[in-house]
Amino acid sequence: MPIHFAPLQGYTDDAYRRIHHQLIGGICTYYTPFVRMEAGGVRSKDMRDIRPEFNEGVPVVPQIIAKSMKEFEYLVGIVEEKGYIRIDLNLGCPFPMQAKHGRGSGLLAHTDIVADMAQSIASKKHLQFSVKMRLGWEDADEWRPVLDILNETPLQQITLHPRIGTQQYKGALDMQAFEACYQACKHPLVYNGDITSVADIHRIEQAYPQLAGIMIGRGLLARPSLAIEYASGKEQTWEERRATLLEMHSQLQAHYEPILNSEAQLHNKLRTFWEYMENELGRKPYKKIMKSGNLRNYLKAVREL
Ligand SMILES: Cc1cc2nc3c(=O)[nH]c(=O)nc-3n(C[C@H](O)[C@H](O)[C@H](O)COP(=O)(O)O)c2cc1C
Repeated sequence: MPIHFAPLQGYTDDAYRRIHHQLIGGICTYYTPFVRMEAGGVRSKDMRDIRPEFNEGVPVVPQIIAKSMKEFEYLVGIVEEKGYIRIDLNLGCPFPMQAKHGRGSGLLAHTDIVADMAQSIASKKHLQFSVKMRLGWEDADEWRPVLDILNETPLQQITLHPRIGTQQYKGALDMQAFEACYQACKHPLVYNGDITSVADIHRIEQAYPQLAGIMIGRGLLARPSLAIEYASGKEQTWEERRATLLEMHSQLQAHYEPILNSEAQLHNKLRTFWEYMENELGRKPYKKIMKSGNLRNYLKAVREL
């Protein structure tokens, strides 16, 4: 079963994806955090993230988020200009700042706009699209009319996270709704949500044998070797995982040191690498890293892992 690395704004930037791919692997596709419009253009941070020269050799699919046809066409044009032929459309983001403006999961209820985007997708035969979505924003049935539209649209795949937007990333997964979508979806379907172990991957694989893949976000941030451990069928020891984490961290440090302006910025950026790793590191070492206060104490805490 192919494993996809979910987009995680603030975590899986170009450096993280490239270093993960070169050092660890096991991932079929890395999705970029969404590229969005701001003040009539694309944020420079988003532009940097999709620069082909920084994604060379990495199987990357840029993701866009749009509330209107105008934004959609503009962003597709930008991504295409960078030389990509695959684009993922975000219909799942639950951040109120986006959803309340009709982007991400907030677009699911606007089937007229989704239908226009679908028509445009169908007309762009030189590009390949996929969709990442939730069940809805407020209501777990919003996906149904959207899927009716998407089923008639040429797509590479649909990824479904079986929650509604107002749940954010917590609360029960609605596996009954996932099952209904699994039955109704005419495209390759990818499961996404709360996968944290190889056993979880096997459980989903067995429950939904027709699935096209599994997308993992926080579980991979927490244990970057998860996908390769699944693919190789071999669990890594803590010593092996520790060595890889330290190497990954040192490569991230080497990447960010020359481009960030201060020690405080470097400290803040590097800290995010461990944020989801409380279980992996153990409570005490985790706390020591997260509460280190400055770069010097932080690097000392990392060395002591
Ligand atoms: C901090 C954070 C940032 C995220 N950014 C994005 C994003 O840019 N695009 C997107 O489609 N999903 C985004 N997501 C959602 C994840 O891709 C994924 O769907 C979600 O975390 C559930 O999968 P998981 O349980 O495997 O983490 C984000 C989630 C988190 C926690």
